[in-house]
Amino acid sequence: MEKMNLVSGMRSTGKLHLGHYMGVITNWVKLQEDYNCFYFVADWHALTTKYDKTETLKQDKLDVVLDWLACGIDPNKSVIYFQSKVLQIAELHILLSMITPNNWVERDPTLKDMVKILKSKEGENNENIPQMSYGLLGYPVLMSADIMALNAQVVPVGVDQLAHLEITRDIARRFNNIYKTDLFNEPKPKLTEVPLLCGVDGQKMGKSFNNDIKISDDNETTAKKIMQCITDRSRARKDDPGHPDKCEVAFKYYQIFADKTVVEQTAIECKAGKRGCADCKRQLGCIINEKFAPVREKREEYRKDTDKVYDIINEGSKKASVEAEKTMQLVRDAVNI
Ligand code: TRP
Ligand code: SF4
Repeated sequence: MEKMNLVSGMRSTGKLHLGHYMGVITNWVKLQEDYNCFYFVADWHALTTKYDKTETLKQDKLDVVLDWLACGIDPNKSVIYFQSKVLQIAELHILLSMITPNNWVERDPTLKDMVKILKSKEGENNENIPQMSYGLLGYPVLMSADIMALNAQVVPVGVDQLAHLEITRDIARRFNNIYKTDLFNEPKPKLTEVPLLCGVDGQKMGKSFNNDIKISDDNETTAKKIMQCITDRSRARKDDPGHPDKCEVAFKYYQIFADKTVVEQTAIECKAGKRGCADCKRQLGCIINEKFAPVREKREEYRKDTDKVYDIINEGSKKASVEAEKTMQLVRDAVNI
């Protein structure tokens, strides 16, 4: 049976953290075996909120791809590209925008959340809170174009993206109805089972909260950040018996990153008061550094050879364009333009 097309993207937010690694990238790596995977950096989407902060955009885009390659996204298996290098996506976005009713995008809850966050940030130091831009309103339509340009059947996303994907399915159906065609699939979400990795402070891991550990952090930085992990707050002295189940962050990281026997041993020693939290976290830092050593080494090799990385991206962008052009020829025919 022929493999199905799968599309997913990430906005160019710069270096990725362990939450991205556990939640998204390991999943993407596995999917490479079963689907024709198209993975792209959504740099146009980044502009929907950061149109005035583009100084770091080029580097941010590169950093995302470096992390992907280091983690095992394989250019021989998957197509890796920049959204802005596939102009067919922009063309499709225009055509889809014509058939998308305003209220479909206006009631998108994920978009509403984005606007709320944006306004609260702007509000901190700006009295004139800007209106939502035309481009941001079109966020789900652009996302639909990303997916439909490759006529993907499958889209791995987190729950926060489901509302956008619902609009994509509605738009695909509406296109088929209006132009009396069965050109487009209704793409299905593939929910990522996210083993939710919190930040070292126990809140959601994120770069803006300064509680994240980057895939590309060096050993020293990682060790330092791990020492900030919250442990069992009820424990006063290191020979008090501890409670692994109440250890808010450190023990959770153990369960995610350490071997089963190490996890068990840690729990036993903790409960018996035979293990201090500082030592426990020191060991945790070593475990994480060891796990990511090969990833970090591979990243460093790519980072030293950015020509090679841009070759990969350019070639991927060409491949994606060829695929998207096939779709667009059918689309232009269907629309009679
Ligand atoms: N909106 C997605 C996010 O913020 C990124 C994205 C853009 C995407 N276009 C896409 C994901 C197409 C899947 C398919 O995570
Ligand atoms: Fe958590 Fe380890 Fe401290 Fe126990 S010893 S509370 S598992 S950090």
